[in-house]
Amino acid sequence: MRRNNTPYFIKRIYTAINRFYVRRFIAPQFDQVGEGLEIAHPRNLVIFGRHIYIGNYAQIIAAPDNYIRFTTWPSKSQSGEIHIGHYCLISPGVRISAAQSIRIGDNCMFAANVYISDSDWHGIYNRIRPFRCTKPVVLENNVWLGESVIVNKGITIGENSVIGAGSVVTKNIPANSIAAGNPARVIKTINPNRRMLKRELLFKDAEHYFYNQDQMDLYMLGKNSIWNWLRGLMKPNNLD
Ligand SMILES: CC(C)(COP(=O)(O)OP(=O)(O)OC[C@H]1O[C@@H](n2cnc3c(N)ncnc32)[C@H](O)[C@@H]1OP(=O)(O)O)[C@@H](O)C(=O)NCCC(=O)NCCS
Repeated sequence: MRRNNTPYFIKRIYTAINRFYVRRFIAPQFDQVGEGLEIAHPRNLVIFGRHIYIGNYAQIIAAPDNYIRFTTWPSKSQSGEIHIGHYCLISPGVRISAAQSIRIGDNCMFAANVYISDSDWHGIYNRIRPFRCTKPVVLENNVWLGESVIVNKGITIGENSVIGAGSVVTKNIPANSIAAGNPARVIKTINPNRRMLKRELLFKDAEHYFYNQDQMDLYMLGKNSIWNWLRGLMKPNNLD
């Protein structure tokens, strides 16, 4: 598709159906959901297990060809849990799997295909019993994980830190660091005294934010006609 032919009112209907679907079918699968939860392609978010909590104004962007998965596994002694703070952004293909505990602070951003797990799921010398080798994972506030980052069990990543695309995090990363590589090493530091714009700013006036989103849709799609949209679905050409 080279152009979005969807008429504005169809987008409005689609958005309303999505919100209904999220309220009716997705929200009850969490143990707790904050206000303002937005999920793109909610049918492509797969939640398995209990004790999954998510804060206010989370933006979860699933995609039809790249599912997001939040998984907690119960074991004899404990049940895994996932706590996600406020204002977090989660991109297509992100997988978060907990056998024990994964805690994610506020304002965190995860690029596509990030994988976070607090378990090796099998032992090195015992490969038949699951849930071996678990250690809690903590991502403090405002952590940004680049595309395809892997965070191993037992890791803490400090506040404001950034992990470069494709990195594998095997050791703790201190606050205000930029780390990259496999295994991830600190390559730079962030000046904590500089003003940083965090995601929470977007939602300071949430009503205004959602109004702006709608106005953007109106601007982009307002001139699209239903006839041209239907024609594009049935007989696309190189202008579609
Ligand atoms: C981590 C990142 C933000 C750092 O950017 P930067 O500050 O401009 O870093 P630089 O390009 O100056 O790189 C500094 C050094 O780290 C290395 N480096 C940077 N990113 C790296 C990565 N992902 N893996 C391995 N090494 C990396 C560079 O090669 C360079 O090494 P050198 O000093 O030996 O030449 C950026 O490299 C990155 O990975 N961005 C991807 C973000 C992303 O996934 N966004 C998706 C949308 S949310």
